[in-house]
Amino acid sequence: MLNVDEIRKDFPILQREVNGKPLIYFDNAATSQTPKQVIAAIVDYYSNYNANIHRGVHTLSQEATDLYEQARIKIQKHFNAKYSYEIIMTSGTTHGINLIANGFSSLLKKGDEILVSALEHHSNIVPWQMLCERTGATLKVIPMNEKGELILSDYETLLSKHTKLVFVNHISNALGTINPIQIMIDKAHDVGAAVLIDGAQSCPHLVPDVQALDVDFYVASAHKICGPTGVGMLYGKEEWLNKLPPYQGGGEMIAEVTFQKTTYANLPHKFEAGTPNICGGIAFGAALDYMNAIGFENIATYEKDLLEYGTLELLKIEGLKIYGTSEHKTSVISFNIEGVHPYDIGTILDKMGIAVRTGHHCAQPIMDFYKIPGTVRASFAFYNTKAEIDALVSGVKKAKMMLS
Ligand code: ALA
Repeated sequence: MLNVDEIRKDFPILQREVNGKPLIYFDNAATSQTPKQVIAAIVDYYSNYNANIHRGVHTLSQEATDLYEQARIKIQKHFNAKYSYEIIMTSGTTHGINLIANGFSSLLKKGDEILVSALEHHSNIVPWQMLCERTGATLKVIPMNEKGELILSDYETLLSKHTKLVFVNHISNALGTINPIQIMIDKAHDVGAAVLIDGAQSCPHLVPDVQALDVDFYVASAHKICGPTGVGMLYGKEEWLNKLPPYQGGGEMIAEVTFQKTTYANLPHKFEAGTPNICGGIAFGAALDYMNAIGFENIATYEKDLLEYGTLELLKIEGLKIYGTSEHKTSVISFNIEGVHPYDIGTILDKMGIAVRTGHHCAQPIMDFYKIPGTVRASFAFYNTKAEIDALVSGVKKAKMMLS
């Protein structure tokens, strides 16, 4: 059981006011808030261990290296990767996706096909379009239905011996739909295609087991899981990571450099050119410790309750429509009020101290599907409460009265 009153004490920002009102933070799908345990890890690093890693023989450098590599092992264990070197530290999900897209440049040719889902964030569309431009491969889209679910029968029809890669998010950022990734991975493997799962929105709510999923690549960002921005992870199966060329050249990713030829370092360093976000990586580990101490089953149960309550209460408002109505969804409610622009609702809610995201949520194809410019998106985390949802509902009612 989750003790939300105690948990809220861990988040200093939840004590502040916005526009003279207590902050109600419902923009968790954009970024989560940071508990004092993670803030303490950041302060501790810069107060006691700040040094570059993997380079110095001096004590500070060794201590920083140890902390950073311990964080990698925490990430490995959390995602159940077989080896710690299958975890590549990145600057975030977008970096991980681009790293893979770049790596496949030399492996694809004209006639090859890449499948992406209709539910993708722009970061899981644009890199593949760029990859297709470079290689002559074709991008195909797995369609969605009115409920915001992928149409699996169409997916099966699209798969063929030409399919080389499938990219799909685990959970849609705009609608909250939880995609049936296990089935999709298995079907892709049946035709010999590799699969990359974008876990940016799943990791705050569940624990992906990359070995059980048998997924080829999985990417995530720390800042959605109570960690800092600017750091994330890419999991890749060892055989794939060995096959792909490095993404960036620089220090730390080499074995030997001469002007004639350079040989590359072993995994994971081959993909980690330059000084990384050392503190961020360590804080990512601290964030996983924090979330695991609360327990993801507790988090999921609590958030499901918030989702059900929020959905019921918001639907009582006349003219309110929710987009994304799958039974398999996480604590995200995307909605509009008939005749009112989402941006105007968001602006009025902000005056009441309530933070929501408005717009297309970097997922314009989803908005095009519904023929809308955007939505208001309230995304709940385990530190939110039903009382806050009540305030949101009353705020939306007030906004509706003012705007219609
Ligand atoms: N991708 C993030 C969101 O959905 C930023 O808000």
